[in-house]
Amino acid sequence: MTSTERSKSPLITDKWQVSGRIYRDSTIFEKEMTSVFGRTWVYVAHESEIPSGGDYKTAYIGQQPVIVSRSSDDNSISVMFNRCRHRGSAVCQQEFGNSNFFRCAYHGWTYSSSGRLIGVPFDDGYGESFDKTSMGLSHVAAVQSYRGFIFATLAGDIDDLETYLGHARQYLDFIADLGNSEGIELTSHAHKLVYHGNWKLQIENTIDPYHFSFTHQSWLDILKARSGKSSPWVKNVRTNDEWRGMDLGGGHAVHEFGKLGAEADAHGIAIGELIPFNLNIFPSLAFVGAHLRLVVPRSVNETWVYLYPILPKGADEETRTRILRDHEIFYGSAGFGSTDDIEVGFDRVTAGLEATDSPEDWALMARGLDREIVDEETGIRTGRSSDEVPQRAYLRRWLGLIEENNDIN
Ligand code: FES
Ligand SMILES: [Fe+2]
Repeated sequence: MTSTERSKSPLITDKWQVSGRIYRDSTIFEKEMTSVFGRTWVYVAHESEIPSGGDYKTAYIGQQPVIVSRSSDDNSISVMFNRCRHRGSAVCQQEFGNSNFFRCAYHGWTYSSSGRLIGVPFDDGYGESFDKTSMGLSHVAAVQSYRGFIFATLAGDIDDLETYLGHARQYLDFIADLGNSEGIELTSHAHKLVYHGNWKLQIENTIDPYHFSFTHQSWLDILKARSGKSSPWVKNVRTNDEWRGMDLGGGHAVHEFGKLGAEADAHGIAIGELIPFNLNIFPSLAFVGAHLRLVVPRSVNETWVYLYPILPKGADEETRTRILRDHEIFYGSAGFGSTDDIEVGFDRVTAGLEATDSPEDWALMARGLDREIVDEETGIRTGRSSDEVPQRAYLRRWLGLIEENNDIN
């Protein structure tokens, strides 16, 4: 295939061949920033990270740097671009903290915790017509919370957050009710991993029971050596009917390890134990194991991933420590799991996708296509545990958004 032919081939065929271009083409990446991250609700913070007036954290909506801040005047939450209205310097350098104001280090312009411009050094230099009230930090188009999860959007004309979350809401409710209904907190903050590959590789890997027993073989071997028994993982992925992947619509997807409801209600599950599902909220939020995961695309081939262990509200020191140590065993930077995924799921896939002259420059996402069941009423698609239902779920939504104002085909 010539490079012209390649650039005209479909991004995703009806056989679910997904073009390698979507992982490495910087034009497509730029399009994603406007058409995907610019047109959806993007998770930025949990309310427990900014409980008091003056608390703030910095975050990204796509590549847009923002400050999520709780006002020290009235406790309201603002999401503002982290960009001084004078000459553009980022006004906040910290990942989180508490302050009644943000003072730009360059020339000292100072903003309140809700973004009002409250101080301009030597302001007589701007003349009488200078209007401080119109020179505050710019706010994003809208901010809404659902059960403590704060989302922001750059789009002024999209559905409200509850509608956007759709069938994924019941799973977020389950997580919000953990901790014997006292609620959860993310007060240990995050640890961060960086890989040199496309952000969508992490989304695809988050709900992928198919890979686990291969990529994480050494972890399963360790468990076997400790317990004397093989992990039931492989058997469950192949044959357990209660293990199922679901396309919830709107790009959201879940893999259930068992039914929600009486046997697995939120109150019966201790925080720090596995949540009985993995969940992807389109485009960049996920819940895996016992943590919240946030994916931040930095460029077409650089991705940051933040992992926040989920803690019960007001956890004592012992509980906190146990949960954090459990988290580190698999997900920590010296742990057994994330390191496997970075090497095998991200680095090696990125290396393989460099074979751009392959006549078959696509990834195959067709697994289980013929056996997925579509619920006529809800539109929810259900497949077997190892099927690529969650991957198709996010790609359907992704493609819809890319094509909405599309000049890439
Ligand atoms: S760029 Fe912020 S005060 Fe000048
Ligand atoms: Fe993995």
